[in-house]
Amino acid sequence: MTASSLSFRLAVLFVIVGMAMGIGMAATQDHSIMPAHAHLNLLGWVSLFLFGIYYERRPALDTSRLALIQVILWSIGTVVLTIAVAAIHLGYTATEPVAGIASIVVLAAMLIFAYFVFRPAPAVQPSSTMRMTPAE
Ligand code: HEM
Repeated sequence: MTASSLSFRLAVLFVIVGMAMGIGMAATQDHSIMPAHAHLNLLGWVSLFLFGIYYERRPALDTSRLALIQVILWSIGTVVLTIAVAAIHLGYTATEPVAGIASIVVLAAMLIFAYFVFRPAPAVQPSSTMRMTPAE
């Protein structure tokens, strides 16, 4: 599976859970897990979908193992962070170290993504598919 298709699939699953959390908060008038809802939607839906668009526009990167690892790391970090943040705001403060570790996992995944964005662009190799248009 490519990094972009995994990103899009997981992002849609995350936003379905995130929206259900939002509806649950609104229905119960209990907004205590609001930070978890916000993190799930912004890390799991918005950011992950943006990664997917970036990868889909770069086919060589999209099929690379490191891009897939980046998406998996980001997704695991997001799930653990969301659960830990929800637990903290429900009074289970013992989960704070879990949230801390998850936040470092998410940061590590973002550093991998930063590497993709900042590394020098691969040189364009002339190929048989290159089209030459004569000057008029
Ligand atoms: C069915 C869809 C959704 C429902 C019913 C919903 C509901 C809610 C509720 C009830 C709150 C708490 C507001 C408060 O306590 O002040 C909230 C906060 C928030 N939601 Fe959603 N939400 C939904 C979808 C989304 C999506 C898709 C995103 C992001 C892409 C999002 C991002 C946020 C953020 C960032 C906050 C925190 C706002 C703040 O700090 O005041 N939500 N949402």
